[in-house]
Amino acid sequence: MQQDFNSKINDYENNRLPSKLAALRIAGEYLQTRIRNGSNPKIIYEHGVHVFNVAKIARAIARETGGEINPETAYILGLLHDVGRVKDETVTMVPHGIEGYRYLTKLGYPGAAPICLTHNFIDKDIKPGDYPTYSPALFNQTKGFLSQIEYNDYDRLIQLGDLFSRGKEILSIRQRLDKNKQFYKIKKLSYEDKAFALRDYFDDKFGIDVEKIVADEFDLTKHTNGTITIFLLPNQYAYAQERRFSLVK
Ligand SMILES: [Fe+2]
Repeated sequence: MQQDFNSKINDYENNRLPSKLAALRIAGEYLQTRIRNGSNPKIIYEHGVHVFNVAKIARAIARETGGEINPETAYILGLLHDVGRVKDETVTMVPHGIEGYRYLTKLGYPGAAPICLTHNFIDKDIKPGDYPTYSPALFNQTKGFLSQIEYNDYDRLIQLGDLFSRGKEILSIRQRLDKNKQFYKIKKLSYEDKAFALRDYFDDKFGIDVEKIVADEFDLTKHTNGTITIFLLPNQYAYAQERRFSLVK
C-alpha cells in the first residue's frame, strides 16, 4: 500500500478502471487461482456467486439514481471488490481488503484499488477490537488510509451491495444481520445501525427503495411487517428447486 494517498484516489469516475470485460477476466482469474491452489471449489463457487451478485446489485441500484451513479462503473467495482480473496486471508494473515488493494495496484489499476479496502468499513473510524485479523501495523496503515479519503457513493454502494449478499443467498439487511449474529453467536453487531443508515442514505438521496430494487433484481418478494423487511422466494422458485433435486437423485 502506498503512503502518498491523495483525496482523489477513490475518484472512480475519473480514474482509469478496467473495462467490464477486463474486470470479468480479473474476477474469473482470481477465482480460478484459488481453486488451482487447492481451495474447496464449492466454497469458491459460492464466493464467485457472491461477487457477481454484488456487482448486479450495485448496477441495479445505480440504474435508479437518475444518472448520478454510473451503472457500468458500479458493476465493475462490484466485480473487483473482493479480488483480495485471491489468497486465503486465514493462511496469509493479510486481510483481503489489503491484499486486494495490492493486487489491483500491481495489475496496473491503482485507481480501482481503494474499493477493495473501503467496502470492508462502513464506519471509517475503525477500532482495533473490531478487526482482530489485522496486525497493529496493517491496522494503523488502514486507519491512515481511511482517514485520508472521503467515501463517495461508489464506496457506499459496494458496502451496501455486500450487505445483501451472503454466499449464494440474497437477503434483506435484517436477514443478513440476523444470520451474522447467529453465526458469531452475538446479540448485536456494532455496525447494525450503520447498515440501516446506509440503506436509508440511498433511499433518501435518490428517492428510491433500495430493498425493493434488490428483491426485484433477483425475482424475490420484499415483505415488510412493521420495521422488519425480509425477502421471500416466490413459490414457483421453491417448486423449481424441489424438482431439480428430485431429478438429480
Ligand atoms: Fe464481498
